[in-house]
Amino acid sequence: MRLVLAEHSGFCFGVQKAIEKAIEEMEKSKKFNKNIFALGPLIHNKQVVDDLQSRGLVISETIDEIENGSVIIRSHGVPKQIYKDIENKSLHLVDTTCPFVKRIQKIVDQYHKDNYNIVIIGSASHPEVVGINGWCDHEGYVIQSLDEIEKIVTDKPLCVVSQTTMPTPLFQKIVSALKERHDNMKVFNTICLATQDRQDAALELSQQVDAMIVIGGRHSSNTQKLVELCKRILPEDTYAIEQSLDLNQYNLSKYSLIGVTAGASTPNYIIKEVMQKIENTYRKTIQIAIDGPAGAG
Ligand code: F3S
Repeated sequence: MRLVLAEHSGFCFGVQKAIEKAIEEMEKSKKFNKNIFALGPLIHNKQVVDDLQSRGLVISETIDEIENGSVIIRSHGVPKQIYKDIENKSLHLVDTTCPFVKRIQKIVDQYHKDNYNIVIIGSASHPEVVGINGWCDHEGYVIQSLDEIEKIVTDKPLCVVSQTTMPTPLFQKIVSALKERHDNMKVFNTICLATQDRQDAALELSQQVDAMIVIGGRHSSNTQKLVELCKRILPEDTYAIEQSLDLNQYNLSKYSLIGVTAGASTPNYIIKEVMQKIENTYRKTIQIAIDGPAGAG
């Protein structure tokens, strides 16, 4: 058996920065015996969040529950109003919004002020999209399929942005369909390159292996997109897991070449544990390549 790790996988720049900043602020709070909160789970990875909670981070779903201390805004970002709430309550702000998400918020804020209708291509319930919509008074149209274009009824010009984790082909299809109906439209492709790189690498790798293992949180949007992409190529042979323990339910011995990828909120130590567990279980037959298919032994 050979095991190949996708060229791009695991923690992205935004999540890495957010975790580092959170840990730094947690240490400061501990030193001065102050409370530290995160507005929602810091990232969509249960193992990482459990670890941070055990070290003193308190997860709070709303700002109403927080009376003092520091508040971490996670990489997904939040609506504009939350910044005002934090200021009004004199809380210490720790903003780990990913710069790529910040850019979308700025675009939406500006074009909303310029009297455009905002269109966000993404999932309405995802925290990043809820946050982005909060920069145009929650008046944006949120769509994620061609059918939903019907919802957009307006004479105003449109400003179109995307959730960072949208697949590019879907974004392009929706934008083309919108262009047929609306003349006055500004389009910003705000899909994150880290997401795109992970999706391209996963797709490429799944075309070269017998099975794919996708590691990441069940609530991680970008991980679920990787699962979807791999399943397109390997519908019966794609395994979505959160951690090495989840491998216990599968028998991988029938495969001779297995690809591994991981969502942008999966830390390296979990990827290593998974690869180690496969190595230990199928020790007699395994060769590991960590530099992508070209480097496979
Ligand atoms: Fe930022 Fe992209 Fe990661 S938007 S949080 S670098 S997936």
